[in-house]
Amino acid sequence: MSELEEERSAFDWEARFAEGTTPWERGQMHPAFLDWARKGAFTDLESVMIPGCGRAPEVAGFAEMGIHTIGADLSETAINWQRKHLDECDLSAELITGDILDWTPAAPIDAVYEQTFLCAIHPRLRETYEAALIRWLKPGGKLFALLMQKDERGGPPYGCPIGVMHTLFPESRWIWPDGELTPWPHPALGGKAELGAILERR
Ligand SMILES: C[S@@+](CC[C@H](N)C(=O)[O-])C[C@H]1O[C@@H](n2cnc3c(N)ncnc32)[C@H](O)[C@@H]1O
Repeated sequence: MSELEEERSAFDWEARFAEGTTPWERGQMHPAFLDWARKGAFTDLESVMIPGCGRAPEVAGFAEMGIHTIGADLSETAINWQRKHLDECDLSAELITGDILDWTPAAPIDAVYEQTFLCAIHPRLRETYEAALIRWLKPGGKLFALLMQKDERGGPPYGCPIGVMHTLFPESRWIWPDGELTPWPHPALGGKAELGAILERR
């Protein structure tokens, strides 16, 4: 196994779901998701991918809007939870179990909804992830990002300082929104803020 492959599986996410130690979960829809939905940010989407979806209820939230929703996660337990939850809600979505960084869609998609995934992967995998986002999204496609702010070193969650994010998502490939980004404090992770940003793939 290469060093990068080891990093992809270094943290045992499956064990965290199996033992129920999942402090990143809000237990309800993310307020940023609800705010974007209220403002019509998802209105024109036909397809959306949620990488590292875990047990996030936003998979069902997008499916309920009639958007073709793809949820992916390394954890079989999390994907089984999504399958059961969708069945209970009488909704459907495409679910993938496995390492999403290697995935390529059959056709480029309209949007990616990013919620505690970038901060979950090792920072050395970030450029691989950014390249995957470029591969997944249509030109003009949207990345709905929630960027975890924290000062302590290490992770997960690994901090996503805005200066570092501008280097990772450069203006040559991404259009950043004007103005201040909205902070959404996380109720469980010591109140750390996630900054909400809608980036457009050029
Ligand atoms: C912090 S959790 C966030 C889960 C979910 N987005 C939420 O907000 O509840 C990170 C998730 O990413 C998944 N994950 C980590 N690396 C992955 C990879 N390379 N491919 C797919 N899923 C991955 C983990 O299994 C875990 O469910």
